[in-house]
Amino acid sequence: MRTQVCIIGGGPSGLLLSQLLHRSGIDTVVLEQRSRDYVLSRIRAGVLEWGTVETLRAAGVGARMDAEGLPHDGTYLSARNRGFRIDYFAQTGKRVMVYGQTEVTADLYAARDAMGGVIIDEAQGVTLHDVETGAPYVTYHKDGTEHRIDCDFIAGCDGFHGVSRPTIPDTIRRDFERVYPFGWLGILSETAPASHELIYANHERGFALCSMRNPELSRYYIQVPLDHTTDQWSDAAFWDELRRRIPEDTAETLEMGPSVEKSIAPLRSFVSEPMRWGHLFLVGDAAHIVPPTGAKGLNLAASDVHYLHEALTQHYAGDAGAINLYSDRALARVWSAMRFSWWFTTVMHRFPDQSEYDQRMQESELQYLETSQAAQASLAEQYVGLPF
Ligand code: FAD
Ligand code: PHB
Repeated sequence: MRTQVCIIGGGPSGLLLSQLLHRSGIDTVVLEQRSRDYVLSRIRAGVLEWGTVETLRAAGVGARMDAEGLPHDGTYLSARNRGFRIDYFAQTGKRVMVYGQTEVTADLYAARDAMGGVIIDEAQGVTLHDVETGAPYVTYHKDGTEHRIDCDFIAGCDGFHGVSRPTIPDTIRRDFERVYPFGWLGILSETAPASHELIYANHERGFALCSMRNPELSRYYIQVPLDHTTDQWSDAAFWDELRRRIPEDTAETLEMGPSVEKSIAPLRSFVSEPMRWGHLFLVGDAAHIVPPTGAKGLNLAASDVHYLHEALTQHYAGDAGAINLYSDRALARVWSAMRFSWWFTTVMHRFPDQSEYDQRMQESELQYLETSQAAQASLAEQYVGLPF
């Protein structure tokens, strides 16, 4: 088989890139190692920046998001069981959209199918070849047969554990990493959300977040030590702990029910540079991971895709230098979201070695956020997303 851009990974990055390139007349093949049902059952991000919303609309996949998504003008921060509001819209003139990654992925699959896009699922043993030459190719196994795809470019959209990033030699690649000493235990429950906006809570027992997917489906998280497992957290224990950490009035009226999903995600900041090597581009989680506190993971994937789509479109229109700009443009935005996610994580979580001094610093930071318009404007500008 031959294509112009072979895309490895059928998560949000790979599907959105394929959709945008197809609409610009550039041919792609997507190789995904899992089944479609598996990809569509993953519960992950929930908040879209306005730039992501506009990118999805430009890709022709905005209709259901616009009908069913929940535009949010602000959010609550809570300290010591008392909340205060940050008004994004008043500060920036922009909103965010609450619309789950699961729905974004489903909409992208539907759009790819409608356009006759080629997505090969359950592709095993995907291997990249001759990436540094002008004639790269990818091999994989499916149903006992080995296949080969020749292409102009390879887009590594295969997430943090994928095969694309390790293809770049150690002599070229530089990785930067911070691993946090805690994780987030998350549940999904078929109950009405705790509040009409998200609540990010700083509490001496640890961070908590009240989020949602729609008016009947809520998503909650609590900070837990890294060695905890979902088995040791019954639903009742989860609700008890969540209620201790959030504003008192919210805890009193919280609707509780059985969890329909429960998982633990460790928190990590990670960047790999460069994001292009020869004819390989890294996109989304394949190149970087942020802790989920700033809701930036999926949004960074969307901005990478935006830059790569632009670079490849210009390349095929005859601008030979366009692809040289991709890595630097993407990384500039990645590092700024890295900084925001690290800052917000540091302000909102309880660290195992946290001293009383550190704690007072957190309290003072939250006090500043509650009372300073400049501090609120800074948080709002970054939360709704810097332009791309
Ligand atoms: P992925 O979604 O990881 O997609 C990569 C795809 O590549 C997958 O479908 C995978 O199966 C496929 N793949 C991997 N290896 C291969 C291979 N060798 N061959 C072929 N295909 C391969 N962000 C938030 O903003 N909020 C959250 O609450 C949040 N929660 C998260 C929870 C978890 C457990 C994880 C892992 C991430 C979470 N994120 C969250 C981050 C967000 O979901 C990601 O940033 C986003 O999924 C990135 O999309 P992606 O397409 O780049 O990567
Ligand atoms: C979510 O709804 O899953 C969610 C929302 C905001 C975050 C992280 C996760 O910062």
